Amino acid sequence: MSQAEATPKPILQLLNVESAYGPVKAIRGVSLQVRRGEIATVLGSNGAGKSTILKTISGIIDPRKGSIEFNGMDITACDPAFVVQSGLSHVPEGREVFPLLSVRDNLLMGAYTRKDRDGVARDMQTVFGYFPILKEREAQDAGLLSGGQQQMLSISRALMANPDLILLDEPSLGLSPKLTKEIFEIVVRINRERGTTILLVEQNANMALNASDYGYVLENGRIVMEDTCERLREKDDIKEFYLGMKEDGARGERRWKKKKNWR
Ligand SMILES: Nc1ncnc2c1ncn2[C@@H]1O[C@H](COP(=O)(O)OP(=O)(O)OP(=O)(O)O)[C@@H](O)[C@H]1O
Ligand SMILES: [Mg+2]
Repeated sequence: MSQAEATPKPILQLLNVESAYGPVKAIRGVSLQVRRGEIATVLGSNGAGKSTILKTISGIIDPRKGSIEFNGMDITACDPAFVVQSGLSHVPEGREVFPLLSVRDNLLMGAYTRKDRDGVARDMQTVFGYFPILKEREAQDAGLLSGGQQQMLSISRALMANPDLILLDEPSLGLSPKLTKEIFEIVVRINRERGTTILLVEQNANMALNASDYGYVLENGRIVMEDTCERLREKDDIKEFYLGMKEDGARGERRWKKKKNWR
């Protein structure tokens, strides 16, 4: 096997990406890659910059520095509509379904650039297979769905574009542990059955590390650790800060507060 075959080019590559909101620097030189066919995750607490990474990739905000390559194409600062058309769908934080459109019309919005009507009809049946409740509520306004059902709709709408890569922003937000588990199981099925590559950002490290192949830890806008999820799950720092497995009470608490840096 040649070297090129042994290490195929990643589907997504960020190099030294910096993004800011006015004077507030949100990500500071982020480099990461996602390999085709894998589920990659970025873990980080509130305000770490997770959503900013995804918004910068999908073109909602333009980076101040760095570059983003998707499917061999430079998409740095490209228009969001162009990015979607090139095969990259973003499921934003907090769902953002169209509340006054029916479930069905929300799904069709996800497919609005597609010309293959048969393919669209087939994908509609596929998402109804993943989330049967959406089939039951097909004609109802999306605004009447529960939070969990809206999350299902939001993921399904992204699938309707038949993307190569899905950016998934905190699917567990505000959901019960049971529903979170169900949604993660479907995300893994989508990856395995359709071969869709997924970049997932999460605060729920437990779910994310179990579902994903490769992980990055983001702190204050910087990647401070990366490894396979199998290895990350075994690291003491991850167990202590993200999986809450250290059980030595107040002393542990104090150590947690004192500890500022990773590694
Ligand atoms: N619209 C905005 N205007 C100004 N600052 C912002 C804006 N959005 C995010 N920020 C700031 O950028 C930083 C990163 O925010 P971001 O939303 O990317 O974090 P996050 O990791 O997604 O957090 P969370 O887990 O709470 O969703 C934070 O300091 C935040 O306050
Ligand atoms: Mg966020």
